Amino acid sequence: MNYNKKSVESVDVKGKRVLCRCDFNVPTKEGKITSDKRIVAALPTIRYLVDHGAKVILCSHMGKVKVDWDPNLSLKVVADRLSELLGKEVIMAKDVVGEDAKAKAAALKDGEVMLLENVRYMKGETKNDPELSKELASMADIFVNDAFGTAHRAHASTAGVADYLPAVCGYLVEKEVSIMGKALADPTRPFVAILGGAKVSDKLNVINNLLEKVDTLIIGGGMAFTFLAAKGYSVGKSLLDTEKIDYCKDMMAKAEAKGVKLLLPVDTVVADSFPNPIDGPIEVKTVASDAIPEDMEGLDIGEKTRALFAEAVKSAKTVVWNGPMGVFENPTLAKGTIAMAQALADSDAVTIVGGGDSAAACEQLGFADKITHISTGGGASLEFLEGLELPGIACLEDK
Ligand code: 3PG
Repeated sequence: MNYNKKSVESVDVKGKRVLCRCDFNVPTKEGKITSDKRIVAALPTIRYLVDHGAKVILCSHMGKVKVDWDPNLSLKVVADRLSELLGKEVIMAKDVVGEDAKAKAAALKDGEVMLLENVRYMKGETKNDPELSKELASMADIFVNDAFGTAHRAHASTAGVADYLPAVCGYLVEKEVSIMGKALADPTRPFVAILGGAKVSDKLNVINNLLEKVDTLIIGGGMAFTFLAAKGYSVGKSLLDTEKIDYCKDMMAKAEAKGVKLLLPVDTVVADSFPNPIDGPIEVKTVASDAIPEDMEGLDIGEKTRALFAEAVKSAKTVVWNGPMGVFENPTLAKGTIAMAQALADSDAVTIVGGGDSAAACEQLGFADKITHISTGGGASLEFLEGLELPGIACLEDK
């Protein structure tokens, strides 16, 4: 697909009302933001718009809205944090496309910033209702999409609105797409991809697409057990996608036919039960991956596997990583994931971490600065790796 899109710099924003979709879907606990990474990531575009005299109307979703106008999912908390980061007032609207939002948007002066309420308070948002898109568009002259994390959703504020306004991308979308796009389309080789996470079925198309592009594909985490079972190994009580065993066989055959090295765990950290609570104490031992006892469950990669995977990363020039190697929430079972984060941090290759747990691991370990790019997208970066067209980007004007 074509990711060569017009950016915010290609339109004259001075004095214009600019509707800028961000991904402010930030984690909160007891009403406080626990990571402002996505707000910080949106700052370059917002600052550009402010500095160039636009009247800035920001919008986003947050959380899963189940109760109408759930006050716990109000974006007020984001407006407060954004205002601190920008060092200027962020005017908070009481609604999305209602009287208050429209009045505040109409009264904006050049360089002022406002934030609409949670777009998912509107039922039409996730249905990509053209009526809502038109209402959003009616408040602005230009649409800027900078919500990479939500670019895989064809919603009214991410895609539909682009039917009614000139539509360009912001700096975050531009950066995510150019770094990940280059890695996939024209990687410096050797190109190594590391996939982890619980289920093979979540990453079927990612595996298939990456096998077309990489030199080495590393598979760890829960999903590795279905591959190990496909090789005829006993995996005990480990996570198993029985319906996907044939798929894994096909993927191993594809790797061989394409000359792609497919690395699977050679040893596994096992326990006789899953820790309860998840971060509670647990007794583990390490066994060869082809000899997991019937009554044991694999919960992390072992020491030899950590060394094997790290060695592959060491010789790479481009590395993409998505998904943890074990039950990262438990310190006893986090060694595999930590080892991968460390291997990427030590590498001088272009290193890209696709959102979610692997991104959180790099950040918690303090390695974020040593990684070339940590995506702000979870689902979006996965769909990007699948080679899918992201509707929030496809709807923007081509360069
Ligand atoms: C995310 O956190 O992945 C994005 O903000 C999209 O959120 P959603 O899965 O609720 O659409």
